[in-house]
Amino acid sequence: MTIEHYDMDDYEHIINLWERAGINVGSSDTREEIEKMLNRNPNLFLVGRVDEKIIAVVLGGYDGRRGYVHHLAVDPEYQNKGYGKNLMDELMLRFKNMKVHKIHLFIEKYNRSVIDFYMKLGWEIRGDLVMMSFIPDENLYKWKL
Ligand SMILES: CC(C)(COP(=O)(O)OP(=O)(O)OC[C@H]1O[C@@H](n2cnc3c(N)ncnc32)[C@H](O)[C@@H]1OP(=O)(O)O)[C@@H](O)C(=O)NCCC(=O)NCCS
Repeated sequence: MTIEHYDMDDYEHIINLWERAGINVGSSDTREEIEKMLNRNPNLFLVGRVDEKIIAVVLGGYDGRRGYVHHLAVDPEYQNKGYGKNLMDELMLRFKNMKVHKIHLFIEKYNRSVIDFYMKLGWEIRGDLVMMSFIPDENLYKWKL
């Protein structure tokens, strides 16, 4: 697998990949929103290709304090071949080189089986935290695209 920066020309491919991998795509995944994220994090938004085809994607973000991992997905036909680990290793190396102190990610409870994947990569569950969210504009936020 070769790892490259995501390009907006790949938009339809990654939406399709996320949907096929069971990722919930919502109002933060429109072309416009994805482009905003890309402009802020051009070196952290990565795709993996096998035979030219995009088979993996991860959206890394940095807010100036913490790093974040969103929407990691490997095409179901290519899972369990080490590609998810490869992509995460590359993203973690980039965060390390940026001297980011800590990186967070969120797992929806329906998807808790993926916890073991992250544990193998050295991630820890935070038992001391409760995640809370606030939606400033209900018209803006939608669960589905
Ligand atoms: C999670 C995901 C990205 C893993 O990618 P992958 O390429 O299949 O995983 P890898 O082959 O790199 O696996 C690395 C290790 O984790 C293990 N692993 C992978 N998926 C696992 C799972 N769901 N549960 C437990 N272990 C898992 C592998 O067996 C492997 O272990 P090993 O090193 O002992 O052989 C992929 O399954 C996926 O796209 N899932 C659907 C989308 C999703 O849930 N994304 C995460 C959102 S938080």
